[in-house]
Amino acid sequence: MPATLKDKIDHSALPEHIAIIMDGNGRWAKQHGKIRTFGHQHGVEAVRDTAEACAELGIKYLTLYAFSTENWVRPKYEVNALMTLLVSTISAETKTLLKNKIRLLTIGDISKLPADCRKSLNECMEKTKNLDRMNLVLALNYSSKWEIAEAARTIAGKVEAGELKSKDVDEKLFASFLSTAGMPDPELLIRTSGEYRISNFLLWQIAYAELHFTPVLWPDFRRNDVYQAIIDFQKRERRFGGIKPVTKQHA
Ligand code: FPP
Repeated sequence: MPATLKDKIDHSALPEHIAIIMDGNGRWAKQHGKIRTFGHQHGVEAVRDTAEACAELGIKYLTLYAFSTENWVRPKYEVNALMTLLVSTISAETKTLLKNKIRLLTIGDISKLPADCRKSLNECMEKTKNLDRMNLVLALNYSSKWEIAEAARTIAGKVEAGELKSKDVDEKLFASFLSTAGMPDPELLIRTSGEYRISNFLLWQIAYAELHFTPVLWPDFRRNDVYQAIIDFQKRERRFGGIKPVTKQHA
């Protein structure tokens, strides 16, 4: 049998955490002569295939940028459609997450999401909270500047209240106040649709991440694109500011 892309992956050097900026749903819909929400609907298939591929490979964290704090300015019908899609997808996929031992987590301010959306997310997070094959992290109403400002505000409050000393504020402590507290930083960040931007996503956490940009529009993204990104990642020389390549990020 000819070697597949998957065969080219070194399973001993997998990233522990992959983060993805899913982009291009609107353009994909336009290419198909449809309205933007059609692209989001088809984006769900890409989410499913990507999550399945990552879980099968043994990736421990997959973080998807599903809705940014900036996305609220989109037309109301599109925001509503995205929220409805989120509710229906979470409800429909909970069984699959349970079967595959995948834990659902969120980052971002979900208190601002519609009530039915919060309900289905909370129910799914509760049902999957003890699963540990892979963590599927949805960034919802998330932006990195928001998260960093929130952490700074909380820390400042604790200093004011005498619970923390300003001299104790270092990188480790600061990171423990981010919404990703306890998660490893992503080693690989993928952005689809040929855009070369980070768009306010995990700015602190991607300090040493390898960046992979692909022209594929999100609804067309499939497991082979995940494999290709990992193969490219494994070809990179990771030095973390040093001289020799190292495979794992220093603690
Ligand atoms: C970016 O494409 C995509 C989004 C803002 C939403 C992503 C949402 C999904 C894939 C659907 C549901 C997700 C989950 C996790 C169930 P865009 O609209 O910015 O595309 P454009 O740049 O071509 O306009």
